Amino acid sequence: MKKILILLFIFGVSQLRAQEISIIPKPTSLQLKEGNFSITPKTKIALAGSNLDKIAALLQSFIENKYGFKLPIVKNGAIKGNIVLNFDRLDHPFQGAYHLEVNSDHIYIGGDNEAGVFYAVQSLFQLLPISKTSPITIQQMVIDDSPRFEYRGLMLDVSRHFFSVSFIKKFIDFIAYHKMNKFHWHLTDDQGWRIEIKKYPKLTSVGAFRNGTLIGRYPGTGNTDKVYGGFYTQEEIKEIVKYAADRYVEVIPEIELPGHSSAAIAAYPELSCFPLASTTYPAKTTWSGSTVGKQVQQIWGVHEDVFAPTEYTFTFLENVLNEVTKLFPSKYIHIGGDECPKESWKKSAFCQQLIKDKNLKDEHALQSYFIQRIEKFINSKGKKLIGWDEILEGGLAPNATVMSWRGEKGGIEAAKQKHNVIMTPGEWVYFDHAQNNPEDSITIGGYTNLQKVYSYEPIPKDLTKEEEKYVLGAQANLWTEYINNPSKAEYMLFPRLSALCEILWSTKESRDWLNFQQRMQVQYKRYEWLNFNYNKPAK
Ligand code: ACM
Repeated sequence: MKKILILLFIFGVSQLRAQEISIIPKPTSLQLKEGNFSITPKTKIALAGSNLDKIAALLQSFIENKYGFKLPIVKNGAIKGNIVLNFDRLDHPFQGAYHLEVNSDHIYIGGDNEAGVFYAVQSLFQLLPISKTSPITIQQMVIDDSPRFEYRGLMLDVSRHFFSVSFIKKFIDFIAYHKMNKFHWHLTDDQGWRIEIKKYPKLTSVGAFRNGTLIGRYPGTGNTDKVYGGFYTQEEIKEIVKYAADRYVEVIPEIELPGHSSAAIAAYPELSCFPLASTTYPAKTTWSGSTVGKQVQQIWGVHEDVFAPTEYTFTFLENVLNEVTKLFPSKYIHIGGDECPKESWKKSAFCQQLIKDKNLKDEHALQSYFIQRIEKFINSKGKKLIGWDEILEGGLAPNATVMSWRGEKGGIEAAKQKHNVIMTPGEWVYFDHAQNNPEDSITIGGYTNLQKVYSYEPIPKDLTKEEEKYVLGAQANLWTEYINNPSKAEYMLFPRLSALCEILWSTKESRDWLNFQQRMQVQYKRYEWLNFNYNKPAK
């Protein structure tokens, strides 16, 4: 009986600890040990590897902000009593693996590379108590951890609604905190052009502002009748790219073409097949201001006025992309390619002649011609093209990476054609979908709750082992037609981002919904401690 009681007691303690220690995404291996280590104001951050100063500074400022004392950062300091940041050769096929030990007299972090040290520090943040204490006591343990996928992304649409530089930085913090590494920045669309291009100032003086916005869910109950807009200067973009790089996040810009281009066309009407035709909108919706000439769209959805495949347009796009490629060190440029209606190309004598001259089958082949020309230019700048899965129609550009959003089909097809793929199927990872049923505020529709996100497997079943290698990873998308403020953006992200990061980082074998839910109970408290606005699921 005594033995059973002792066993029950030990089991109880370990259960409690397992719940208290809640790292999301779940590490590959975590072994708890007896005893603790305490971080006190005397503890130093000791740099044993080079180029770790910025990571040390982030750790220092987190502890200072949350616990009220500032740990000194020293080079080659003693191990004993300190938090040591170092490199260990772990040979993971891509960046981010690390080894972390909490010992009786020091904390040791060995990253495979800088990103690995950074992610170890993110794990350490989650080992710290969720209240201001001094000293900070941590249970002894050993963690070995590495990411499952190379591409772990999150997209933000800043065209439908604009978000300040300070929120963009917070968004990048969310990505980094979850050990994700790609920020796909949807910078242009029908309802606003958001990136300064020096050669074409009207893109922002005209294209960044619309005269009104729908009220309520499409077709809406009216229009705000207020000018709405904003854009990022090139200086702000450089600042954001640097902020992201310091957090091991790559910023991938998206410049939409040939569709979703009303804002650019409003600035430079010659980009349209019909420059003199006024912008149209569905009769059941409400418009604000002038309806004469080209206008920045105020209505959500897909619009027929798209880029004409003329030399004027290609020169324009190459000039734009020339500035974009210089601003973003990412090896990728996203060119959209989705939802391009073919009506205006069908009506245009120029397009029909071009189809004949180039021996193209139809307007889908014309879109493929368009994308392939842009790809050549992007490749000539040493960059790779990403497009939404419509770029498969009419033939894929030779080196393109496909983002599969209309389910898994596009991704499967692209992988079978030996093209790299990023999975982002709407049903599982569109974070503009409702997460409660019935929805608790207006959303675009759909229902993607936490469990649904957690159930997502980025490698489609239909792929062979060889084809699986083309799936680089996955990303969630935050389209913002119905998200017009940072607080709602956070609410739509959390807690779903926690589920997404675990799918992308943790091993497939460790996926366990019950265990995840247990760890989420701690994560909700952490969200509060970190001031993240979130939706707490009912169960
Ligand atoms: C998309 O959601 N239109 C890519």
